Amino acid sequence: MTQTPHISVKDLNVHISGNHLLKNININIPDKSVTSIIGPSGCGKTTLLKSLNRLLDDIPEVNISGSVLVDGEDIYGPKTEVTHIRKKMGLLAQRPFPLPMSIYDNIAYGPRIHGLKNKKELNVLVEHYLQAVGLWEEVKHRLHTSASALSIGQQQRLCLARGLAVEPEIILGDESTSALDPISTKTIEDLLIKLKENYTIVLVTHILRQARRVSDFIVFVYMGEIIEFGPTEEVLLNPKEALTKDYVKGFIS
Ligand SMILES: Nc1ncnc2c1ncn2[C@@H]1O[C@H](COP(=O)(O)OP(=O)(O)O)[C@@H](O)[C@H]1O
Ligand SMILES: [Mg+2]
Repeated sequence: MTQTPHISVKDLNVHISGNHLLKNININIPDKSVTSIIGPSGCGKTTLLKSLNRLLDDIPEVNISGSVLVDGEDIYGPKTEVTHIRKKMGLLAQRPFPLPMSIYDNIAYGPRIHGLKNKKELNVLVEHYLQAVGLWEEVKHRLHTSASALSIGQQQRLCLARGLAVEPEIILGDESTSALDPISTKTIEDLLIKLKENYTIVLVTHILRQARRVSDFIVFVYMGEIIEFGPTEEVLLNPKEALTKDYVKGFIS
């Protein structure tokens, strides 16, 4: 592997209410590429993704040990600020959650919070990020209408644009196309493939075809453990571990 790791997970263990949900996770997630976490339902994919963004912190009864280094900084270190970590990462959820405001204000929201007030500069940013997700032509005549009137596929692209507008380095996606029709799914997949030139992308998916289409690397998780990690073609077409073979052939679901 030639890429430098952007995220390094070291001896990560997560317990929730006494259940050992992630077991001795060690992985280096490469910079400027798409890494997909695959595995059967309930194996810990979402928990692993959330651990990268400290989104598990809010769960009562959670116990996390080990470290997650992002750009060499341990996000679980005693001096690390959660807001600083979260600013580096954009999260695309299973369903789009546009803010209850206009299309324009959804994109301008983050930059405004970070102090940008100049209207011309905001206009430029809004157009830029809507262009980046291929929405500009579709919405340029209705920027000041409610985002909730957009189709679900458009809403998901808007949420992606809203996340990009706060200039993250990393995009995390948790089954982010599961609510979308096939055409919108393809649009999001193509966007992610394009965005990896500039971002490190970590996705959770249980759709193997999707994992194959979009990922450079695959992590196969089973019952809270990483069974196999490697280049997409290797893990999906020529897996080393018997459990991975069974999963990709459809014996474990
Ligand atoms: N907040 C929580 N409290 C208790 N158990 C949880 C919580 N979140 C997840 N789990 C449990 O952890 C396991 C892994 O969940 P999850 O990471 O969501 O799996 P996946 O995304 O692979 O379907 C499941 O058994 C789930 O029930
Ligand atoms: Mg999940």
